[in-house]
This record gives sequence, structure tokens and C-alpha cells, in this order.
Amino acid sequence: MIPSRFFVTCAPGLEPLLHAELRELRLARIEQQVGGVYFEGSWADALQVNLWARTAVRVLLRLARFPAATEEELYAGVASIDWDPYLRPDGSFVVDAHSNASALDHTLFIEQRVKDALVDRFREAHGQRPRVDKEAPELSIHAHIYKDRCTLLVDTSGDSLHKRGYRRYQGRAPLAETLSAALVLDSGWDQRSPLMDPFAGSGTILIEAAMLACRIAPGLLRPSFALERWKGWDARLGSKLRESARAQRIAIGKRVLLGLETEPETVRGALENLQALGLESAIRFEHGRAENWEYKRGWNAWIVTNPPYGERIGDEEALARTFRSLGRRWKEHCTGWHASVLLGNPRLAASLELRAERQRAVRNGALECEILHYAL
Ligand SMILES: C[S@@+](CC[C@H](N)C(=O)[O-])C[C@H]1O[C@@H](n2cnc3c(N)ncnc32)[C@H](O)[C@@H]1O
Repeated sequence: MIPSRFFVTCAPGLEPLLHAELRELRLARIEQQVGGVYFEGSWADALQVNLWARTAVRVLLRLARFPAATEEELYAGVASIDWDPYLRPDGSFVVDAHSNASALDHTLFIEQRVKDALVDRFREAHGQRPRVDKEAPELSIHAHIYKDRCTLLVDTSGDSLHKRGYRRYQGRAPLAETLSAALVLDSGWDQRSPLMDPFAGSGTILIEAAMLACRIAPGLLRPSFALERWKGWDARLGSKLRESARAQRIAIGKRVLLGLETEPETVRGALENLQALGLESAIRFEHGRAENWEYKRGWNAWIVTNPPYGERIGDEEALARTFRSLGRRWKEHCTGWHASVLLGNPRLAASLELRAERQRAVRNGALECEILHYAL
């Protein structure tokens, strides 16, 4: 089979981390772009990325690129594609279009024409056509037109990959699993030293850290990915790759993962999430305040955390006080420790009164954030 080109999407700012993950998976022709990373490989490679890439949001297969300055060119480009490997004549699909700096700029119209060309091709070849399903399509098609050229991609993932399948408890403001994993990876945690999250919430950062240390593939709890429902998919391949992913799991051993949290209800939720992964004994949660905890000198832990941002009026002043005490405590007791803090509010970062050794801008949903790394 000729290798295909895949585009793996991620949250803006995380591209270098995703790039490093794809290198670790030993994929070919890896190329970083804005919003994601390209690689070249087989459908099996795409399943591996769906199973293993912790910072990826979606894995898209690039089907074609063609000129699309006019409606006719767009139609001809789509009609020339062999859709049979991806879609059955009685299957379902949806088209999502984007356009930028192009003559065809009406996205609804673009979606319509892509749909028409695909449907006509099926009718001619099979006398039957797949139907449009916006809720649960078997095939999601993305048409991106930029400077009058159309890139057509199909989604191999299905649901966004942050949905790992372990979140039984939501919590108030859980950090996305993909961003939590990114924070742990970016911190440079050695996977042996203690790791603590003093604002643990539903424990996503700690859970992602435990999964990393135990080599648990983040996609293993998902029943299937979209490409496994394609017509040309070989089901034996899926079982084989899952089996070999399962075999890589190792025990948490003596590693210490610790979470602090002020709300007991949230801690109960975190434990439910851990049970889904069989990791209930891997993480210890304590009820307490981050700024009052007794950070033990010489413990040399990694602090990886996502404190509250102070979205509500009045919160910010109290939080600034918390951050000042926290910064002082870290300075006094945590020499030799590392701290990686995801913050969406630069004023609060200043209240820590510590100098970051490096930082990375990331987007957390609609919020522009900063990951600040401190060598304490
Ligand atoms: C932004 S949330 C963390 C979300 C978490 N990363 C997750 O994925 O669920 C911040 C958490 O810090 C807790 N919190 C607020 N003030 C605290 C303090 N002084 N010490 C410890 N936890 C605190 C809140 O109850 C909340 O659960």
C-alpha cells in the first residue's frame, strides 16, 4: 500500500510536544505545522497514533489536494476520489468546510458541492448513495480551501482524543486530558521522582502522569476509532495493536504521586476516574491547602499544576494572596524541586514572585494561557 499523509491536530502551542511524541512512535516524514503535525504512514500507523499520542486531538487522513478556484474544479476534485475504502454505499457521512483567502468562500455552499460530487459518484458506481448524518456519521470529511486550493481530509479518530474513556466524574473545571498530559510531558518529569499537584481537582494531571509512568496507552479504553469502521479496515490489525499496547503496561511500583485539594467532593470524583483505569492505589490524595502544606526539604519532587485562574470578580485578590504565600513556601522549602504551572492570568503569575526559567504559550479552550516552568 502507498503510504498516506496524515495530519494530527492539537491545541495551539502544543505542536512541538506532539512532534516529539510522533518521533517517539518512529513515524516517517514528520513535519510540524500550525495547529498540528504531519506524518506519513499506513492505516495501522494512524491507529497507533490514536492509541498512543497523549497530546493529539484528532488524526486526519489527507485524501487529496487539488485546485478549487471554481465550483466546477471543486466538484471534479471530489468526484475523482475513490471513496470505496472509506465509505459503504449505505453508510453515512458529513462534510465540514473552511475557506480562507479564496474565491469560494461560502462554507455551506462548499459543503453542499462536496456532498453532491461524492453522492453522484456513488450513485453512478453502485446505484445507491450514502446518507448525510450530522450526529453520528461513519465518515467525517473536512474540506479546507486556502488560496483557491482544496485539501480534503477524513477523520480517523471519531470523538476527540481527549475523551480517553476514564472520566466518570467531571468536576467543576477539569483540565482537558490532552493538555494535562502536555503539562506533564513539558515539565520534563523523569517518571521516577515524586510528582505532586497541589490544586488537584478531579486529578487529571496526576492521572495522565500515572498513565505515562505505567505506559498505559491513552486510547486503550476507547471501544473504537472511526477508521475501524471503514470498509477497507482489517479488524485483526486493531486487535493486534491493542494487545501489544496492553502488554506494555507496567506497575506504578514505588513512584509517589500526590494530590492536594480543598474540596472533598472533587477528591471522591478523582478516585472514581482512577478506578476506571485500575489505578486507584497509584495516587494519594490529601485534603488541604496548597499554600499551607508542609513541603518537605530534600524531597526533590516535580510540582505540576493548574491552579484556579480567578475568573470571578473578587476571587483574584484572594488568589493573589494564596499565590504569594505559595511562592514563599516553595522558595523556602523546595530548593532543587521543579514546578510547572499552567496559568491563564499573568497578574497571578507575578504574585508567585518567582522567575520562570522557560515558558510556553498554549490555548486552553478559548483562554490564552502560559505554562511557566520554575527551577526552584
Ligand atoms: C482549575 S482547578 C484544577 C482542575 C484539575 N486540573 C482537573 O483537571 O480537575 C483548581 C482546583 O484547585 C482547588 N483549590 C482552590 N484553592 C485551593 C487551595 N488553596 N489549595 C488547594 N486546592 C485549591 C479547587 O477546588 C479546584 O478543584
